[in-house]
Amino acid sequence: MEKRAELYEGKAKKVFLTDDPELLIVEYKDDATAFNGLKKGVIAGKGVINNKMSNLLMQMLENVGIPTHFVRELSDRETLVKRVDIVPLEVIIRNYAAGSFSKNYGVEEGVAFDSPTIEFSYKNDPLGDPLLNEHHAIALKLVTPAEIETVKRYAFEINKQLKALWAECGVTLVDFKVEFGKQANGAIILADEISPDTCRLWDSKTGEKLDKDRFRRDLGGVEDAYAEVMKRLLEKI
Ligand code: TMP
Ligand code: ASP
Repeated sequence: MEKRAELYEGKAKKVFLTDDPELLIVEYKDDATAFNGLKKGVIAGKGVINNKMSNLLMQMLENVGIPTHFVRELSDRETLVKRVDIVPLEVIIRNYAAGSFSKNYGVEEGVAFDSPTIEFSYKNDPLGDPLLNEHHAIALKLVTPAEIETVKRYAFEINKQLKALWAECGVTLVDFKVEFGKQANGAIILADEISPDTCRLWDSKTGEKLDKDRFRRDLGGVEDAYAEVMKRLLEKI
C-alpha cells in the first residue's frame, strides 16, 4: 500500500491518503508536546515504540471483540488503518487518582478508586480541550445518545482488558485516554493510539512512572521508560 497525499499532521503523527478511499496510513513521529502544545520536545525512538505498542494492544482488543481501526503494520513507524471520522471526544478512564483529577479535586496521586471513572473532554485545541459531560456531547451533536453508550461500553471494556494485561507485565494502569472514530457505515470503532503517550503506567512494585509524565514533568529517563514498558509487553504478549 503506497502513501499518497498527506491528509493531516498532528502533534505526534502524520496521516496520509492511500489509493483506497477507505484506508489511511498513519506515521508516528518522535515529537512530543504537552500542555496543549506549550511544551515541545523529542523523545528519541518514541514513534517506533508507540506504533508497535498501539498495534499490539489493538490486535489484542480486536480478539476480545472491540472493533479498532487497525489493519496492518507497514513498517517501524507506519500502520495502515481504516478511515474514520474522529469523534471529537477524548475519553478518559481512571483507576487511580492522578494528573488533572488530582489537581481539580484535591486528591493525592495514587489513591485507588473502588470502580473506574470516566470523563470526556471536547477535542478542540483553541478551547483547550474542555471537560464536558455526555449530555453536553449530545447537545453539541458530537455523538448521538446511542453512540455515547457504545463509547462508554467499549471504554470500560478496554480498561478491563488493558488493566489485566499490564498487571501481568508488573505495570499498574493508572489512567488512559482513547479516541473513537465513526466509519462510513456508522459503526463506532477504536481509533488513534494506545501508548505511553496516552496512558499512565506505573511500575506495580516501585510506583515508578513509565509513561509520558516523565516528559511532562521533566523527570528524565523518558526514552528508558518507553523502552522498559515495551520490553515488558513483548515478554507477555
Ligand atoms: P490528565 O490527568 O492530564 O487529564 O490525563 C489523563 C490521561 O489522559 C493520562 O493517561 C494522559 C492522557 N492524556 C492524553 O492522552 N492526551 C492529553 O492531551 C492529555 C491532557 C492527557
Ligand atoms: N496532547 C497534549 C498536548 O500537547 C499533551 C499531553 O499528552 O499532555 O497538548
